[in-house]
Amino acid sequence: MSNENFEPRLIAFCCQYCSYSAADLAGSMRLQYPPNVRIVRTPCTGRLEVEFFMKAFERGADGILVAGCLEGGCHFTEGNLLAKGRVGYTRKFLSESGLEAERIRMINISAAGARPFVDYINEMLATLKTLGPSPLKRVGPSTNAENRI
Ligand code: FES
Repeated sequence: MSNENFEPRLIAFCCQYCSYSAADLAGSMRLQYPPNVRIVRTPCTGRLEVEFFMKAFERGADGILVAGCLEGGCHFTEGNLLAKGRVGYTRKFLSESGLEAERIRMINISAAGARPFVDYINEMLATLKTLGPSPLKRVGPSTNAENRI
């Protein structure tokens, strides 16, 4: 499949305190980003497990962006540091499996970071477009839950 017509599906896990607010602010500022991004609000990125990332890939995500508070600014002290470690572990796992580590990335952003948030989204989508569809998608019949991504 040519990557030219490929529109990647990106899941953005956003911490409700900072990056979700930045995404919300981007909407208020009418900053545009493509519609193939699904934002999942999480209480803190520290809540995210490696299993969540792998499930998202399995259910059709081509890439994952984990967006947490600035380092030192996590409302649960060090949730974003835990997330950083889990994203790092997932990247290593993908790489050792012969897949592209670039499919998952962690960013730290403040609630006022609407513009950087949109820039990160666009940057990630461009990377995914270059990489092409994820080989981690599960083949076979899907359930209603899987179609919601
Ligand atoms: Fe935002 Fe923990 S509260 S990353």
